[in-house]
Amino acid sequence: MKIGEFEPDDFLKPETLLDPYDYYQQAIAHAPVQKINVPDGSHFYLVTSHALIHEVFSRENDFCSSMKQGFLLGRYPDDPEIQAILSKGWHKANVLVSADPPTHTAQRQLTSKGFSPRLVKAMEDHIRAKTVDLIQGFEAKGECEFISEFVLKLLVNVIAEQVGAAGYESDVKKWTEAIADRMGQCASREREVECARTIVEAQHFIKKVIDDRRARPRDDFMTAMVHAQSENPDESDEVLIEMVIQLLVGGHETGTITLSDGLLLLINNPELMNRLQDNPGDIPMFVEEIARYISAVGATFRFAIHDTELGGVVVPKHSMVMLRLAAANRDPSVFPDPDRIDIDRPKLSNHLGFGRGIHICPGRALATLELKIAFEELLRRLKNIRLNEGRNKFERSVGWVSTGLKELHISFDSP
Ligand code: HEM
Repeated sequence: MKIGEFEPDDFLKPETLLDPYDYYQQAIAHAPVQKINVPDGSHFYLVTSHALIHEVFSRENDFCSSMKQGFLLGRYPDDPEIQAILSKGWHKANVLVSADPPTHTAQRQLTSKGFSPRLVKAMEDHIRAKTVDLIQGFEAKGECEFISEFVLKLLVNVIAEQVGAAGYESDVKKWTEAIADRMGQCASREREVECARTIVEAQHFIKKVIDDRRARPRDDFMTAMVHAQSENPDESDEVLIEMVIQLLVGGHETGTITLSDGLLLLINNPELMNRLQDNPGDIPMFVEEIARYISAVGATFRFAIHDTELGGVVVPKHSMVMLRLAAANRDPSVFPDPDRIDIDRPKLSNHLGFGRGIHICPGRALATLELKIAFEELLRRLKNIRLNEGRNKFERSVGWVSTGLKELHISFDSP
């Protein structure tokens, strides 16, 4: 189907993935459920409207997650070299993002123990102290590369501590980049071979932590997971390993995009930056609005369990459905003037930036707290935050799910 200048298959062009907002508006208006043909001969159904994505989240008897497994295995799942490397690790189990009830329900009970709003609130002082420490490390210079010197150090360290990988932050970053590149469906075969090696390395590290917590229990999240596993013999080590991998990826990749693009937004909107500097109590509203506006997880996926209908389109059994959260978050029927950042919007939290339904992000409370503290401390301590002129190329990684800035060079007035 071609509608005027709107060509649905343009969706997968790198230039559309990098600047998809006109495309979203056309798709929501003309074809909110649209078959997209992938150059490799496969296809999927792209869903863009807020109402229809909401509908899919609630139709658990029609759309499932467990068939995601294949998709998460990258573009070369049958490549013999990749298979040989992966055989030295653990089989990828159906966990959280690729699990359905009842398995999924039991796994969620485990993560919700570790990331309950109460426990997350208890982490506030610790996260704030880390945040201040990092800012103090570069504030006298009057400039920094924001992502490597602040964002990654903060977010990777917070999640690494939870899963027993404190002190191994640069490895965690390497592991999660490998996993994200494989899932992004845009990596070359050579990169996927490298990713496979890195993923096996991560699995062996996590297995060592699991064995250590079994032998020497501590008062931490990993011990709680290992303990819960011993109560449920059906949960194997490969399930625990995969769960930790998902927490590591979810724990910082998306927060990195939200924090770096959020700061860039403030630099480009000095009035808003001044408002937040003068009224730090408005920062939680800003965090909620950037979860919508930036939509760090641009999409998630479901599969049709049987032939079904969505928005008047027949979706055949086993078809993959891409739920474009970033488009739903710009749906003008829910967010008037959607391309404007507006922290006074009514019903700010109507966005789908953290998903909905049974797979809603278990790390939402932690992510929201990290972002709130980071913006509070940055805006309190650094004045006149601006771009470091001439140093920014604004390059972004491109993938089906997310596009993130690679670097953000900023300057500010030293205290
Ligand atoms: C700004 C930061 C974050 C954003 C925008 C975000 C977004 C999302 C979204 C949209 C989903 C739903 C996926 C679906 O329905 O298929 C999700 C799930 C998930 N997130 Fe997050 N997330 C963030 C931070 C975190 C953090 C800090 C953690 C870990 C501590 C985390 C761990 C997970 C996990 C494990 C899942 C899978 C849950 C399941 O399938 O049941 N996320 N996230």
